[in-house]
Amino acid sequence: MASKTEKGILLRPGTEDPVIDWEHTCSNIATQAGQQGSFVPTWKAMQRLVSNGKTRAIGVSNFSIAELKEILPHSEDIPISCNQVEVHPWLPQNELISFSNAHAILTTCYSPFAGQKADGATLLKDPAVKKLAEQNGMDVGQLLQSWAVQRCTVPLGKSQTEARIKSNFAVRSLSAETMAALDAMEIPNGRGRTNDYSSAWGVDLFTN
Ligand SMILES: NC(=O)c1ccc[n+]([C@@H]2O[C@H](COP(=O)([O-])OP(=O)(O)OC[C@H]3O[C@@H](n4cnc5c(N)ncnc54)[C@H](OP(=O)(O)O)[C@@H]3O)[C@@H](O)[C@H]2O)c1
Repeated sequence: MASKTEKGILLRPGTEDPVIDWEHTCSNIATQAGQQGSFVPTWKAMQRLVSNGKTRAIGVSNFSIAELKEILPHSEDIPISCNQVEVHPWLPQNELISFSNAHAILTTCYSPFAGQKADGATLLKDPAVKKLAEQNGMDVGQLLQSWAVQRCTVPLGKSQTEARIKSNFAVRSLSAETMAALDAMEIPNGRGRTNDYSSAWGVDLFTN
């Protein structure tokens, strides 16, 4: 098996402890930490994979508007196909999605059920969501996946249960009232986010 160094992971000298590769980190995140960095060289390396026929399309994950802006000037020939970010009714990411749509970047939504909040809260158990699902004759997974598809995004609901893997695909059109009820569940100022390693990195990873 390849060692961490062979995989390109930077290690603290004499240890197996990984260190943050600020040089290849998006500039706005590196700047917050008093470092210099840019994602552009990595993006250009990814583009070569398309030119060389190794892959058909490339995308990014957890990119804010500022981070998309950093690579957009380098994306004319080989575009940013998608941005995979956390999205669900508690964290609808309206501004980021509308910016992405304007630049033909597809948003794929991870944790679409808000499945990982540290305090154990999840949309799957939210009484208001459960009631809406019942009113629509669906289960909560189908309701939340349908909300995402109706917003022209791609939900990545995960399940280890065969029956749910199948049922989560059964999306259908929701009424304007149901969409509005889900849209109204946003927890302001990004507090609906369930995945955030900002404190571990010592920088705000989710600036716009
Ligand atoms: N790019 C990134 O930085 C990033 C970060 C986080 C996650 N992701 C990816 O996004 C995907 C999903 O994220 P996630 O696992 O955090 O959250 P999620 O899909 O929102 O939630 C998963 C949880 O929902 C449960 N579940 C699924 N369907 C259900 C249903 N119909 N009814 C009741 N419970 C249901 C699952 O339980 P069961 O398994 O028991 O059904 C599991 O506990 C994963 O593939 C993950 O790798 C990407």
